Amino acid sequence: MDYFDYKGAALYCEEIPITELVHQFDTPLYIYSHATLERHFRVFNEALSNLPHLICFSAKSNGNIAILRAIAQMGGGADIVSGGELFRCLEAGVSPQKIVFSGVGKTVPEIEYGLRRKVLMLNVESESELWKIALVAEKLGTVAPISFRLNPDVDAKTHPYIATGLKRNKFGLTRETIFSLYKEAAQNPHLAPLGLTIHIGSQITETTPFVDAVRIACDIAKELQKKKIPLKYLDIGGGLGVRYRDEEPPSPKEYAKAIAPLFKGLSLTLILEPGRVLIGNAGVLITRVVYVKKTKRKQFIVVDAGMNDLIRPALYKSEHTIEPVVRRGKPAVRADIVGPICESADTFAQDREIEDVEEGDLLCIRTAGAYGFSMASQYNARPRPAEVMVRGSDAAVIRARESFDDLIRGEKIPDWLNPER
Ligand code: LLP
Repeated sequence: MDYFDYKGAALYCEEIPITELVHQFDTPLYIYSHATLERHFRVFNEALSNLPHLICFSAKSNGNIAILRAIAQMGGGADIVSGGELFRCLEAGVSPQKIVFSGVGKTVPEIEYGLRRKVLMLNVESESELWKIALVAEKLGTVAPISFRLNPDVDAKTHPYIATGLKRNKFGLTRETIFSLYKEAAQNPHLAPLGLTIHIGSQITETTPFVDAVRIACDIAKELQKKKIPLKYLDIGGGLGVRYRDEEPPSPKEYAKAIAPLFKGLSLTLILEPGRVLIGNAGVLITRVVYVKKTKRKQFIVVDAGMNDLIRPALYKSEHTIEPVVRRGKPAVRADIVGPICESADTFAQDREIEDVEEGDLLCIRTAGAYGFSMASQYNARPRPAEVMVRGSDAAVIRARESFDDLIRGEKIPDWLNPER
């Protein structure tokens, strides 16, 4: 459910016709619905209301500081994977005590930044990282709150690029390593092991992989607690999927119902790191049809958004729902919807049945709020699109459209390439 609906023939975001937003802000344009984000946060939060918990929104799914501010206002924290994401969250006003720092390759400056700003905990992914964190904490004269990320070897049944819980993946530690490291860490005056973490993947559309992984984590947590290790947090990551076209992912309620019984007997605060399920369908990408190109074999709808703006279809072959912003009631055609970039991967949909369009028409690429702008680039020297947030009948630019000057910001021609020198 979301607040992008047709009123008559025209698609609205909350109370504003999308054509009006395009008139004001041009295309390609990311539009976010505040009411949708708020609704998803509330539903997710309420589904877990029987368990002590903290929602740490996965900042990588959408790191715009206005989105992060909205999440913070709702009481959420953040899951981060870089110093840059920490900076974004702090700028947005996310409480550091609600930030968990994940990631397999945290550098010394990043660890230092996290410790100085007193994040809730750092999720440790390797033995080397553990000792690096201890050293940095010692240097700063502090104690590092840490959690160990378990690799539960569970198949998330998702696209292989975004499955993270299998032994062959680079993420997390084995159960045996965690037990031995926990013991060692507990004896180190600069480490405070507080938690156990898992994250098995993203866009997961069944409850079984979550149940399997959380069960394994709960069993380990119970054993650790039996050994009198003062575990406080069980971080079960993110990963709950959304509907792009015809997927039927569990609702937050079904997800919570499936995992809640596993926490019986564990007095821990649950941490969740949802990204996509909160912001995915709270955002759309609006694009304009530049050309309709008909060949003997095919019809192509060439639009002004490209894989640089939304890379998911090119990278994961993901299929987003695409709809006309104004329905004209024309008969449907079959077409490839493609961007202007010089790669055949720059295709949003193949052989897609869609209401016939004309040059100049607007299309709405749905469910682009997660991993849309956050993965956007300037490839083909294309300035990145503007982002707008709508709340009721208000619309605000939350990121200005980039200019050509932005494309070369920071670039310099060395003196010795200057012919006058
Ligand atoms: N926690 C950790 C440690 C993660 O690595 C991720 C996502 C999340 C939480 C949030 O997962 P979510 O709830 O959003 O599924 N670019 C890909 C998705 C990559 C996900 C990476 N990790 C895509 O567009 O599908």
